[in-house]
Amino acid sequence: MGFFEEVWGALEESSPKLKTEKTLKLFERFKAGEFDDFSANEIVNEQSKPSYSALCEITHPSSVEKRRRLDTNEGKAVFLHAIAHIEYSAIDLGLDACYSFQGLPKEFYFDWLEVAAEECEHFLMLEKLLNKVGGKYGDYPVHSSLFEACRKSETLLKRMAVVPRYLEAGGLDANKKMTEKVARLKDETAKDILGALAIILRDEIDHVSKGTKWFYYACEKEGVSPDAYFDIVESVLPNSVRQRESVNIEDRLKAGFKCEEIKKLTTKETKC
Ligand SMILES: [Fe+2]
Ligand SMILES: [Fe+2]
Repeated sequence: MGFFEEVWGALEESSPKLKTEKTLKLFERFKAGEFDDFSANEIVNEQSKPSYSALCEITHPSSVEKRRRLDTNEGKAVFLHAIAHIEYSAIDLGLDACYSFQGLPKEFYFDWLEVAAEECEHFLMLEKLLNKVGGKYGDYPVHSSLFEACRKSETLLKRMAVVPRYLEAGGLDANKKMTEKVARLKDETAKDILGALAIILRDEIDHVSKGTKWFYYACEKEGVSPDAYFDIVESVLPNSVRQRESVNIEDRLKAGFKCEEIKKLTTKETKC
């Protein structure tokens, strides 16, 4: 089987155990030099429904269970389930980048397969914590916003702008807020959750940096100015770019955001 067929197999896999196994193994084989042909296939498939639709009830984002108090096991389960779902979706986003954009340099596939492998580690880490508080992935309804955004961004330029550089970058802001909230709890599980959030944040800075790198690559290839970033995001996700309460300036800078871009996202006086 060629590289893209292997990636498709992992992408379509709906069992979390098998998906993470297949993805992690594929990345090991990639690093061992097993794949060298990245020329585009004649037929490129498109995922018609998210792989988790076999496990989770999909609902509108506004109907997703709101986080309850974090000092109960049930509250922690809802919280961990929501993050585990983002990580599970992110495995597919990494794999989908590898599969949908064929015929690119080998480095592109290394980068997004590495992202997919790290998302597997994030998911497995959260799944373990979720099991510890008595839950499992699939217990609560989920939204499919990340999958929809992925399908709507069909070119490399749009995909890199929207998925890693807009949605995953939003995760940098969210991680900081969640960390502050969990840090107020003083129990053992909270300590474990904080450890997981720190690992996720460290890796996500790198995922967003990779998004920045390939966004600039796509801009150059298509003769588009990187200044068009917000317009590209708006063309895929209308009315989504708005100023937010808290922006993780430090980590966004590390991930390759320009100060002017960060300033557009916050109402607060920003020095960067
Ligand atoms: Fe992640
Ligand atoms: Fe990520």
